[in-house]
Amino acid sequence: MRHLLSTGDLSRDEATLILDTAAELAQVGDRSVKKLPTLRGRTVVNLFYEDSTRTRTSFELAAKRLSADVINFSAKGSSVSKGESLKDTALTLQAMGADGVVIRHSASGAAHRLANWVDGSVLNAGDGTHEHPTQALLDAFTMRSRLGRLDGLRVAVVGDILHSRVARSNVLLLTTLGAHVTLVAPPTLLPVSVHTWTCEVSYDLDAVLPKSDVVMMLRVQAERMHESFFPTTREYSRNYGLDGERLSRMPEDAIVMHPGPMVRGMEISAEVADSPRCTVTEQVANGVSLRMAVLYLLLSGS
Ligand code: CP
Repeated sequence: MRHLLSTGDLSRDEATLILDTAAELAQVGDRSVKKLPTLRGRTVVNLFYEDSTRTRTSFELAAKRLSADVINFSAKGSSVSKGESLKDTALTLQAMGADGVVIRHSASGAAHRLANWVDGSVLNAGDGTHEHPTQALLDAFTMRSRLGRLDGLRVAVVGDILHSRVARSNVLLLTTLGAHVTLVAPPTLLPVSVHTWTCEVSYDLDAVLPKSDVVMMLRVQAERMHESFFPTTREYSRNYGLDGERLSRMPEDAIVMHPGPMVRGMEISAEVADSPRCTVTEQVANGVSLRMAVLYLLLSGS
């Protein structure tokens, strides 16, 4: 494997190797000196054309913990504002010797295009509404850590599936790893091609909750919406929001996940977000170990 562009490219063995490697590397985070020499002399470029809090900082921390040199490039404040293309930007950074390029871009397919232009490994950190592979891998890692298995796990992914790269990457990865996924959303927030996805679909959150080991809540991506997809935010929350009352109807050991950023009061109440059953900050911590694993496996040459 040279690039990480889609979780659909991963076999069960490859995905399991990434999760197992992340579990080993997580121990580095417990040491007083949180650093390994593994990627000394390698250069990782973080190429971010879209805003990010978790993904950008955790890729940076992961690369630094492996002793790589890191260049953080953000489109804001760069020569992109003068009209420089993605290709020319990428070739400029490659000329500086990038071994790995982590890219987030608003265009679906941007990571695949980049992989044709640069010599190093490309890691997709989110391309439009298409995929977010490391998010799905850290989600699977968190489920396995909390619940001890992925095989046979019942996972509900709830919310704005239409605009979600996290949903697509999770469906592809979780089904490869033996979990059963149900997407829950109003019909207007499901892609027309959803019948071709390897999962079930429901419009009824209350029917799915009692049968779920994991409930993954997704943010409504207002920034990608150019029309109205539901009557009011209040009605959306009433039908598809997770509050304390709904949480109490989930199986006792079921967990609530969220990739972040959360909009409290919309898809998730503050009570649920702050509950010990909500893994949102645990997912962030696991994201560092998971991204260390991916960088190690792609860039170490081993
Ligand atoms: N989950 C996620 O991708 O968060 P950021 O947009 O903050 O990176």
